[in-house]
Amino acid sequence: MYLTLSRLDFILGLVLFPAWLAAALLVRRQAGRPTAGRARRAARIALVVLSLALLATVAKLVVFVQLAAMDWVFVADRRSITLLALLLPAVLATVVLTLPRVVSAARRRPEDREAALSDAERARAASVRTVLPPQIAAVGALAGFFEKFLPPHRSTLLNLAVGIGLLALFTALLTVRARGRVRRLAQGVTPARRSAGRTWGVRLGTTVVALGAVFGLVSFGLSNSKLPGTFSMMQGEPDYGGGPAGGHNHLAGGQHLHGGSGSAAAVSVDSLKGPREGKPDRVFNLTAQEKKVTLASGKSFTAWTYNGQIPGPELRVKEGELVEVKLTNRLPGSIPVTIHWHGLDVPNGEDGVAGATQDAVQPGQSYTYRFRVEESGTRWYHSHQQASEQVKRGLFGPLVIEPAEQTRPVDKDVTVVAHDWETPGGTFPAFGTSDKLDRRTAKAGEKVRLRLVNSSNLTKTFALTGVPFKVTALDGTDINKPGEIKDQLLVVGGAQRADAEFTMPSSPVRLTDSSAAGAGIVFSPDGKGDIEPKLDGPEFDLTGYGEATDTPFDAGSKAGRNFSLVFDDWLGFYNGKFGLRQTINGKVFPDAPMLMVKEGDLVRTRFINRGEEDHPIHLHGHHMLVLSKDGRKTTGSPVWLDTINVRPGEQWEVAFKADNPGIWMDHCHNFVHTGLGMVMHLTYEGVTTPYSVGGKAHNRPE
Ligand code: C2O
Ligand code: CU
Repeated sequence: MYLTLSRLDFILGLVLFPAWLAAALLVRRQAGRPTAGRARRAARIALVVLSLALLATVAKLVVFVQLAAMDWVFVADRRSITLLALLLPAVLATVVLTLPRVVSAARRRPEDREAALSDAERARAASVRTVLPPQIAAVGALAGFFEKFLPPHRSTLLNLAVGIGLLALFTALLTVRARGRVRRLAQGVTPARRSAGRTWGVRLGTTVVALGAVFGLVSFGLSNSKLPGTFSMMQGEPDYGGGPAGGHNHLAGGQHLHGGSGSAAAVSVDSLKGPREGKPDRVFNLTAQEKKVTLASGKSFTAWTYNGQIPGPELRVKEGELVEVKLTNRLPGSIPVTIHWHGLDVPNGEDGVAGATQDAVQPGQSYTYRFRVEESGTRWYHSHQQASEQVKRGLFGPLVIEPAEQTRPVDKDVTVVAHDWETPGGTFPAFGTSDKLDRRTAKAGEKVRLRLVNSSNLTKTFALTGVPFKVTALDGTDINKPGEIKDQLLVVGGAQRADAEFTMPSSPVRLTDSSAAGAGIVFSPDGKGDIEPKLDGPEFDLTGYGEATDTPFDAGSKAGRNFSLVFDDWLGFYNGKFGLRQTINGKVFPDAPMLMVKEGDLVRTRFINRGEEDHPIHLHGHHMLVLSKDGRKTTGSPVWLDTINVRPGEQWEVAFKADNPGIWMDHCHNFVHTGLGMVMHLTYEGVTTPYSVGGKAHNRPE
């Protein structure tokens, strides 16, 4: 619904300027017609175009009202400025002043069509009241035409001031021009016709000057937007979320420090590590290397892999274990890597973000991560160095943590990593490397758990057909008393996970990614047979599923910090490229807000998506409890997520406990957007980092 309205709003914004420009020119044209008959014809044409412009304006207003009815936030800032302040007043003036005059001119029946237009009629047609309103409407509509170029959030006053200023300026200029014309017409002076050659000369000259100006602006924008070679992650503007800025800060382990950046007692992320001592319960070696890989369909391409596999090897550990992972980089050239443990709340120093918690690991080098796993469920890992490139190419894998005590044993535990592989022949969605129909056997009566991991940028919609099932976990955290559902589509945002369980019937069951309806997995007792995927079911709704149970805090708890984050798209330059930037509160990385918290705070955050694409927002190091969606409190089982898929027009409210000191990335997991600036971070007071973006290690956290 929002998406349709938003697109309609955008298209109408593009249509309104040419419509009002045409209307303004045609209205003005009447007075210059030599004969009564031609003046009448001009008035009629003007009337038609004027009506169309008015109609488009009414349509825009209707769309505006519908968006506002969803929530005022969706029309706040840019949309209300361009429509209400800059366009509507002139449109109203047109209806009151211009329209009646054009209507009467169009209805006039001249006795002699060839007779000259009478002076009175010509004066009326040329009067300021007739011609000026649609001209100002055209100027106002220009703001709507360029709306995506306007600063998007909380720049309302700036946009308003600049818009009104320009509008006033143009109104003054156009008034002087219209008055001059009235005077000339009254004196019977018809403007001397310029020669065709001169007219074209003027046009050409104007075009060249305009193109030159645009070119100058573009090259300035391109070079000016380039990010510096090296900078600190900590340069965003701090947002304290209504909490105190600075003050006393108690860290785990009894350290006592005086907070605020620049404080002498600051804690470095380097000291926030997992246990350095002790024999690990599990040791894994992951080697980043380039490898030629082949999908089930035979398509092959060169991938960047962990241990030569895509996805990387499934790491299975048990809750409570001390895990040691040695990363070795054998990638060619100078491609550095890291590993981030997505959805696992490790100590900050083990988080694997190049430029924030470590330097990227260079080819030929190794790096060891050590942490104790204090939680269970489906997680995954991926490189957090230039993730837009590295994850796409294969540097990721599943991480499954068995609970200390198995509460839901199954016969078959199947991990399905859904990814979009970019090959020379195009992009192909696959489960692991399987981009065809994959047949597996499962005996009737067996319990099957599917761990769905979406490692791609875009939201995936899964259909599980042929059996009722339960959604037993989201982002790896169990759902309390999940109910049985059937034929509901599981919508899993980029980086999110969903576990689904079912009891195998004697007939086939099929799992399908809706973007690859011909592929998927078919389970059947004999490894044969098939079933049509049902891709048109209702979407599973996590906001009222399962049964309520206690949580450490809820929607009624008072939070020490309250953040509100609005996502917009903004057309312009970013890091040397022109295009849509993905903004958070009107800013892009590294200027996006830095969310400041203190250990122990309860933090409440509202996410609002005013753009037109899904934003799976991932907070490192914490689990967020969903409080409400689109203003409605959640019911049913508590839902704890590490990634909130905020779709266009959606508003989510979450809360989490600030209980894991550090500097934590908080970003959109569509890495295309990450590269377009949608990156912020959560910073605990008193924590600093010695690492920086760029520099010798070529750290690129995004
Ligand atoms: Cu899975 Cu910051 O990422
Ligand atoms: Cu996004």
